Amino acid sequence: MSEVLVVIGVGGMGEAIARRLGAGRTVVLADFDVPALDRVAEALRGDGFAVHTEQVDVSSRESVQALARAAAARGPVTQVAHTAGLSPVQAPLEAVIAVDLVGVALVLDEFAEVIAPGGAGVVIASMAGTQASDSLPAEVEHDLATTPTDELRALPAIAGLDHAGHAYAIAKRAAQLRVRTASLAWGRRSARITSLSPGVISTPMGQAELAGDSGASMRAAVEASGTGRLGTSADIAAAAAFLLGPEATFITGTDLLVDGGVIAAVRAGAATLGG
Ligand SMILES: NC(=O)c1ccc[n+]([C@@H]2O[C@H](COP(=O)([O-])OP(=O)(O)OC[C@H]3O[C@@H](n4cnc5c(N)ncnc54)[C@H](O)[C@@H]3O)[C@@H](O)[C@H]2O)c1
Repeated sequence: MSEVLVVIGVGGMGEAIARRLGAGRTVVLADFDVPALDRVAEALRGDGFAVHTEQVDVSSRESVQALARAAAARGPVTQVAHTAGLSPVQAPLEAVIAVDLVGVALVLDEFAEVIAPGGAGVVIASMAGTQASDSLPAEVEHDLATTPTDELRALPAIAGLDHAGHAYAIAKRAAQLRVRTASLAWGRRSARITSLSPGVISTPMGQAELAGDSGASMRAAVEASGTGRLGTSADIAAAAAFLLGPEATFITGTDLLVDGGVIAAVRAGAATLGG
């Protein structure tokens, strides 16, 4: 049986990761959006990849559990890339919490049950989460890291949110923090889990962000950064390949910031991010 690569979310980053890592593996692609799923699967099959599709709603435990079991039935699940997400310019507050916060927590829970020994997972967080870490109180971070998934929405820091942009930043910080905690359960299976925090990446989501209220400050921050450019899906796929691959077997429970230097520019006082 071939090893199984699971890619959850077939947007710009998901497709790039599937192409980068999928050769010689059974690729299980999962997304909520069936037409997008079918389109990406057809394109990959046309290029010689062995692809299966599963519809999933990452905000539902039953759905994520069914995906994890379906993937494991196809062979040893050695690589999981969780890229599904909603940006606050695409979706309202409730949907951002459901997908970006609860969805990540469910994927960490359910894939911990099926990941193969020696396997690895990567969760796509965001530099928005890295930035949020500068202002969130330690006790809120502790709660985000350790509260059982089914109780997350009731945390005061979540229940009191009234802005999708704040929800996105907190959810992405929670993704980084929950990966830390999840590294223990994944480690008990001899598997690793990391997060990867992109900066502004030129996918449909990134373009929507650049066209939104924060677009001007994001462009200015990119221009002030060490690289001075937008990221590409290929930049993210290369970093994900490293984190999921044989060069990273001592790396787990931590985040890799892949932002072209934007956060460094912000922290150096050369740029600001936000509305
Ligand atoms: N593009 C950027 O600039 C950027 C920057 C930082 C972080 N990110 C994060 O990177 C990840 C990938 O982003 P992308 O640019 O590829 O986005 P994208 O919008 O191209 O793809 C996201 C995919 O997630 C899927 N999805 C949404 N809700 C879902 C649900 N409930 N269940 C299953 N699938 C669902 C969508 O259908 C879509 O195919 C996201 O988590 C995003 O928050 C993106």
